[in-house]
Amino acid sequence: MRVARITLSDRATAGVYADKSGPEIERVFAQAWGEAVEFEAFLLPDERERIADTLRSVCDGGGCPLVITTGGTGPSARDVTPEATHDVLEKELPGFGEAMRMLSFAKVPTAILSRATAGVRGRTLIVNLPGNPRAIGECLPPLVPAIREALRHLAGE
Ligand code: MTE
Repeated sequence: MRVARITLSDRATAGVYADKSGPEIERVFAQAWGEAVEFEAFLLPDERERIADTLRSVCDGGGCPLVITTGGTGPSARDVTPEATHDVLEKELPGFGEAMRMLSFAKVPTAILSRATAGVRGRTLIVNLPGNPRAIGECLPPLVPAIREALRHLAGE
């Protein structure tokens, strides 16, 4: 299993602080998946075109059936991850974002500020997560059964 994980953050890209969210995706996903996972790591600024170009090249390259992004899902001017994701999706799967917000809202009222979505391009599933490392541990594990099932469908099983 190969997973591309993409951190979207102007400040982490500029070196203002370290990217903690990308490594947290690796830790949480590897634990929840239960089989060997290889990760391809990307760190990009919050720029819609660059994000969309990276998503296209990873999906169309065919090497990673799953792309997980973190960051850029909020309401700030520079938060453009959902827009870049929509630019490349062929089918949206809005349930991923709905479930994340619903499950997290019970614990963290600010969870509804995330506009994270998910969907399919070709045979690749793209899932947005919020940028806070703690949010990754809260949001990602409940999504794993649906990720597994979506990947089976995309593989034609
Ligand atoms: N979801 C969970 N589970 N835990 C969190 O701490 N932070 C929220 C929200 N979702 C949060 C969360 C906040 S404060 C924001 S602004 C949005 O995610 C968007 O974050 P992002 O722009 O870093 O993606």
